[in-house]
Amino acid sequence: MQVPMLDLKAEYRYMKADIDAAIAKCLDHQHWILGPEVKELEEKIAAYLSAKHCVGCSSGTEAIVLALRALAIKTTGKEYFERKHLIATTPFTFTATGDAILRAGATPVFVDIDPRTFNLDIVQLKACVEKTSGVVGIIPVHLFGRPCEMDKVMMIAASKKIFVVEDIAQAFGAQYQGRKLGAIGDLGCFSFFPSKNLGGFGDAGMVSTGDPQLHDLVRMLTKHGGKDKYNVDHIGYNARLDTLQAAILLVKLKHIDDFNARRRAIALRYNEGLKDVPGVTTPEIIDGHVVHQYTVRVGNRDQVQADLKTAGVQSMVYYPFPLHTMKVFKDNGARIFGSLANAEKASLEVMSLPIEPLQTREATEAVIAVLSKSV
Ligand SMILES: Cc1ncc(COP(=O)(O)O)c(C=O)c1O
Repeated sequence: MQVPMLDLKAEYRYMKADIDAAIAKCLDHQHWILGPEVKELEEKIAAYLSAKHCVGCSSGTEAIVLALRALAIKTTGKEYFERKHLIATTPFTFTATGDAILRAGATPVFVDIDPRTFNLDIVQLKACVEKTSGVVGIIPVHLFGRPCEMDKVMMIAASKKIFVVEDIAQAFGAQYQGRKLGAIGDLGCFSFFPSKNLGGFGDAGMVSTGDPQLHDLVRMLTKHGGKDKYNVDHIGYNARLDTLQAAILLVKLKHIDDFNARRRAIALRYNEGLKDVPGVTTPEIIDGHVVHQYTVRVGNRDQVQADLKTAGVQSMVYYPFPLHTMKVFKDNGARIFGSLANAEKASLEVMSLPIEPLQTREATEAVIAVLSKSV
């Protein structure tokens, strides 16, 4: 049996009639740039999150850049942050989180993760913000779909009057203490990369915020930096959300809660099936967690991955290199707070298993059986 990480063809077949109709509607109206579907998606997602404003954009990476640039303009009066402005974040994330900080002119300061959650260690984060001068904000990343402890993150930020930009690329639909992620921090940044829980048929993203000034700034920056693109105020981007992506995402949005529930059910079955397998550490699945990746720790990862591959089970490593070890961050003055030993250890041990919402029970059982034999 072949078990892929994700089966986007199966997902397309599952909603083919609606997606084909949505695309046909776009072919008919030909409003490819900021067509009616973009506004409709922004309004539907704002309502879904209980966020005041949402702005569609071209990717999750651009969402973070746009959010930070808007904050730079609002809080410093200048177009970009300066390198002396530090933004605390995790080194155990996709490159884009740290890269966006550099692109907005600021410097990332990497803080270690909690080995149990793979998210920022709250004690370390608090110490970093209290002991390091120049920290202007925090980017918590809800890694693998698990919400960060947002009450604590917001308290740490409030105590120093610094901002919080949530990186929700991997956690669309997740919630913390009954509130959807994206309606908690100053801004929330979403990715609709095809493999995400809510994924388009190409690159796309969104920024959410409750602040009208930040909303205006983000929207302007997506459109070259002005309300009127022929007479602009700021150094902007061409970073609009495509009409076609919005049309497809509107269809997929209808399935998001069902698909997230299916992901949780698969994860809970994996946890049950793997709980007594020596050498495998399974993740905790908490309330509000949407399990973008089902990630275990194993000691002999290369061998286990090879065995899984032989048996037809795909696996992936997210992430093999923590950000602070990469040339781009070393060369551009990224800072480190204390030890990042937990992030370094995780990068050597983690392995993600197939978690396709439409995955059959047999496929899930096959993954459990193969992994149980190979460790
Ligand atoms: C944690 C995280 N942040 C940011 C991004 C960037 O999103 P995108 O690929 O849509 O630019 C991704 C995904 O790729 C991600 O996983």
